[in-house]
Amino acid sequence: MQGKHILLGVTGGIAAYKAADLARRLIERGAQVQVVMTAAARKFVTPTTFQALTGRAVRTSLWDAAAEAAMGHIELARWAELVVIAPASADFIARLAHGLAEDLLSTLCVATSAPIAVAPAMNQLMWRNAATQTNVELLRSRGVQVLGPGIGGQACGEYGAGRMLESLELVDAIAPLLSVAGPLKGRRVLITAGPTRECIDPVRFVSNRSSGKMGFAVAQAMQEAGADVVLVTGPVCLPTPMGVQRVDVESCEQMYAAVQRALPGTAIFIGTAAVADYRPISCAEQKIKKRNDKLNLELTRTPDILAQVSAGARRPFVVGFAAETEALEQHAREKLLAKNLDLIAANEVGHTKAFDCDQNALLLLWRGGRMELGPTSKRELGRQLTRVIIERYEQRERDARVASSGAQGEAHTGAESSRAQPR
Ligand code: CTP
Repeated sequence: MQGKHILLGVTGGIAAYKAADLARRLIERGAQVQVVMTAAARKFVTPTTFQALTGRAVRTSLWDAAAEAAMGHIELARWAELVVIAPASADFIARLAHGLAEDLLSTLCVATSAPIAVAPAMNQLMWRNAATQTNVELLRSRGVQVLGPGIGGQACGEYGAGRMLESLELVDAIAPLLSVAGPLKGRRVLITAGPTRECIDPVRFVSNRSSGKMGFAVAQAMQEAGADVVLVTGPVCLPTPMGVQRVDVESCEQMYAAVQRALPGTAIFIGTAAVADYRPISCAEQKIKKRNDKLNLELTRTPDILAQVSAGARRPFVVGFAAETEALEQHAREKLLAKNLDLIAANEVGHTKAFDCDQNALLLLWRGGRMELGPTSKRELGRQLTRVIIERYEQRERDARVASSGAQGEAHTGAESSRAQPR
């Protein structure tokens, strides 16, 4: 966020006091924050609070001649690289959805070409109201990012959806919206995540305990590093990380097909998915009835997506995961070699470890290297793993450049010497 221009719009609601902390957190991350308050917001918090936190005079009116002379509202709309409305009241969301421009903040939203994010905050009934929901859907369809709201106790004593997200959650959600020239700018990263489901009959399947959290954390961290991320995921209950292109699949076969479609042009492939290694040999057309005491399910191997990607002619940088219940390092090393990977991230699973929880630890192995990460949150682990992948990827690119310039040099010398040979 260093040096980024964020226009923080504060509208009328009790959560306006939380916007002061948000302003502070954005500034801590290096952003320049210009606060614009509506008249209703000033009933809850004074502009002085924001002025003290941001070091900038708060803008409140379209008709303030002195402020307009210093930076007119159109200039201010151009200055913004991102507009964040937090809290966004039901009234403001309605005005934004309908393009009204009757006060400074709503005018700025109409006049800016910067992305807009809103953090709704209101009573749970106001949030559930059909008009509010229609307005929110309209905004989403126009590319406005809707951050939250959270669910919980409300200032009015009720319980439900409508709480503004906490400032650190908002900062995390806002970061990817600022177009960053990260190290992976212009590079495509393809990630598989979650479990797969292999059909037994129309109501049953074979699957595993993967929650997809690790893969989603890696996808978010890769997006923050500037990559164009395609995330092919099995069935999980997780929101799509901001700015990530998500492809939902169920079975290994579908995941494989989606990976093959997205693979051309991919710089880095990361297989975090817990893909089923076997599937029922056929999927019964009707529900299987319990007629006998025993039921034998015949299974057959599924394609190994990771190994196939790695064996391809124009292979990307390939990262695999190993989920092991014993002999972690030995099994991971075997997979690194057997699947010809550039890097493998191994983690212990089972007995309440790794699957379906928020914490994890990883052992990273590559040819000639080893590193341990964590234990820490999967979100943090995603960031740390991303840093290592980028380092290894850039190293491989450098090696490839050196090798190709060496080969060209040899070809050149070869040509010279053949010319020098007497006929
Ligand atoms: N993988 C894959 N397609 C499969 C099976 C696994 O892409 N059909 C990938 C996983 O996404 C992971 C890696 O292979 O990156 C390792 O998966 P894991 O199940 O731990 O190992 P396997 O190779 O399947 O071997 P085993 O089950 O015998 O441990």
